[in-house]
Amino acid sequence: MTADYTDMKRKAAQQAATFIRSGQVVGLGEGSTANFAIQRLAELLRSGELQDIVCIPTSLRVEKLACELAIPLTTFAEHPVIDITIDGADEVDPDLNLIKGGGGALFREKIVAQASRREIIVIDETKYSQVLGTNWAVPVEVLPFGWHSQRDFLTSLGAEVTLRLTESGQPFVTDQGNLIVDCDFGPIPEPAELSEQLCRRVGIVEHGLFLKLATEVIEAGSTGLRHIKSKG
Ligand code: A5P
Repeated sequence: MTADYTDMKRKAAQQAATFIRSGQVVGLGEGSTANFAIQRLAELLRSGELQDIVCIPTSLRVEKLACELAIPLTTFAEHPVIDITIDGADEVDPDLNLIKGGGGALFREKIVAQASRREIIVIDETKYSQVLGTNWAVPVEVLPFGWHSQRDFLTSLGAEVTLRLTESGQPFVTDQGNLIVDCDFGPIPEPAELSEQLCRRVGIVEHGLFLKLATEVIEAGSTGLRHIKSKG
């Protein structure tokens, strides 16, 4: 029997949604797994099981989806602290460090994650790996001005660098008007060191290494759900 990853994503996201309480400020993640949590939240609001929820989306696409589903939105000006965020990830290691940004929303996702009391990451079992970088390149958001220089810098750090393109072959542009370069470093034994190197480089806006930001991970696999909590 082939694994049903869509069903796994749905189960992980719906389990995470059970932790939302009435009156909370909720961060809405980007990606196909987080989408299931958004749909579930909309259902719970429609049925009245949840009330007085306000949400902060992690992308313009998610903002539009939330509006279509009549999910009330708020801003950081009104609510600088988020009670609970449900977001996806591209790769998760045993310390709950993550690679994110497959959907290109890593900058807003990281702002939302660092403002969240609970950052629940929902994944299917294919996302879990022993060492970050084994299965996924690190997306890096760069300013269009001088981006070739950042490309060469990233190559000098050992990455195979690819400018992200849309399906029509145009450069992918983020919600901030920047570019994404996907950086294949191979397995990254010291992600904190790499993160510091990337943060020091002018022209790099943000990167997809999310270190010590997830408070918990809900992973759905062929044998059921696993709820892993951060030790730190
Ligand atoms: C969006 O920028 C990403 O960080 C997503 O959360 C990530 O790509 C997971 O996406 P899926 O849930 O679609 O696999």
